[in-house]
Amino acid sequence: MEGGWPSGGAFLLCLTVNLLLPGRSNTFTINCSGFHRHGVDPAVFQTIFNQKDFRPVINYSIPTQVNISFTLSAILDVDAQLQLLTSFLWLKMIWTNPFISWDPEKCGAISKLTVTTENLWLPDIFIVESMDVDQTPEGLSAYVTNDGHIVYNKPTRVTSICSLDIFYFPFDQQNCTLTFSSFLYTVENMLLGMEKEVWEIADTSRDIVCTQGEWELLGINKATPKMSVGSSLFDQIMFYVAIRRRPSLYVINLLVPSSFLISIDALSFYLPAESENRAPFKITLLLGYNVFLLMMNKLLPASGTPLISVYFALCLSLMVVSLLETIFITHLLHMASTQPPPMPPWLYSLLFHCTSPGKCCPVALWNENTGPGLMSTHLPGLKEPGQLVGKELGSREAELNGGSGLTSTQLADLWVQFSHMMDTFLFRLYLIFLASSIITVVVLWNT
Ligand SMILES: *[C@@H]1O[C@H](CO)[C@@H](O)[C@H](O)[C@H]1NC(C)=O
Ligand SMILES: *[C@@H]1O[C@H](CO)[C@@H](O)[C@H](O)[C@H]1NC(C)=O
Ligand SMILES: *[C@@H]1O[C@H](CO)[C@@H](O)[C@H](O)[C@H]1NC(C)=O
Ligand SMILES: *[C@@H]1O[C@H](CO)[C@@H](O)[C@H](O)[C@H]1NC(C)=O
Repeated sequence: MEGGWPSGGAFLLCLTVNLLLPGRSNTFTINCSGFHRHGVDPAVFQTIFNQKDFRPVINYSIPTQVNISFTLSAILDVDAQLQLLTSFLWLKMIWTNPFISWDPEKCGAISKLTVTTENLWLPDIFIVESMDVDQTPEGLSAYVTNDGHIVYNKPTRVTSICSLDIFYFPFDQQNCTLTFSSFLYTVENMLLGMEKEVWEIADTSRDIVCTQGEWELLGINKATPKMSVGSSLFDQIMFYVAIRRRPSLYVINLLVPSSFLISIDALSFYLPAESENRAPFKITLLLGYNVFLLMMNKLLPASGTPLISVYFALCLSLMVVSLLETIFITHLLHMASTQPPPMPPWLYSLLFHCTSPGKCCPVALWNENTGPGLMSTHLPGLKEPGQLVGKELGSREAELNGGSGLTSTQLADLWVQFSHMMDTFLFRLYLIFLASSIITVVVLWNT
């Protein structure tokens, strides 16, 4: 179709005819006699091909209407560090070339032809957010219909800048903008329109995108504000592409193991405080959690501080705090069994008050005893706390008030009791803090 045609007299004649009779569309009817017998004659299209450097309009005051639509076929990458969205689009553009028209009845019922795009004028539609050079493959063709419409489809890989907010990772949604605009033509020369309704674009794209990948297309909205640069006004169409991450990979690999480890840490409070196992157990858990964090670090976004990192830090610090608590309680118990210091009177009365029934101190709950392990193990010589309180404390208080001291065994018992009380109290604090932080994180994720 191309090459070989000498742009001689026939072209000049055509051009002369075109210039002499502007505005009459039948002037530009292509003589297609013989199309059905000899194939398309390149000569009849040569005039149009020679005009490809200029915008195809009869009257230059009339803007060219370019209708666009696209199908989002894949979301390839969302780079939170560089704030880039890489997607793949099939872009469709339709415009009219008034110089092309033929009568299909006379042309063997041919109503559309493909023409290589090198021979046609193409609108310079580009995506404003695109951060990469246009990687459209070469040698594409476009459909040319007998009434002058040119339908041009091209596949494009778009790397567009997008403000990504990864705070809610892995339950995040992103809203990226793709703005189609002409690079050169102002509103006097080019107007943009929609080839399809935006919901059609969204539906088609959703069907294609939903079968693959980490990201799911939620919807596409559009807006058509004009863009003014200096004194010129450019037509543009903005598409808001809303996408959502599928969180299952992260839930399974990050949240579930982390929750298991933190619940084991909470349960390890039920290991008897007197046993030697509690501290080593917690240290092992802490080590395990660190290894888990190191291994799963690559799944986290490379930049920013998502809520999930805060959650991990919180879990880690809770584990450290629970280890510190164990050390503290072990120290108290050790002190009680070796050389119990004299008990300050306020502590003594606190113990007494809190162990009497009907008081709302943490140890009042101790008698109802929800914590196994704390009560099931008694140091030799330690009596049931209720007994101790009910019978002995009263008399002891009298003794104390009377000025006489406690025997060292009784003092040791009291310290042991105090340690257990502290253990329960700190465990409850730990649980309250754990529950409130988990609830906060979950509530934040749900908003
Ligand atoms: C169309 O071209 C054929 C030769 O290809 C010629 O015989 C015929 O007269 C032309 N018709 C018109 C209307 O110019
Ligand atoms: C071109 O179009 C403008 C506006 O539609 C009109 O005023 C003008 O007369 C047209 N020019 C010609 C040569 O037809
Ligand atoms: C573009 O769309 C507008 C309005 O939807 C329509 O009037 C016009 O004919 C379309 N143009 C082409 C070339 O399809
Ligand atoms: C995306 O953002 C634009 C404006 O920034 C807004 O108009 C549009 O509704 C948002 N889309 C979604 C799905 O949130």
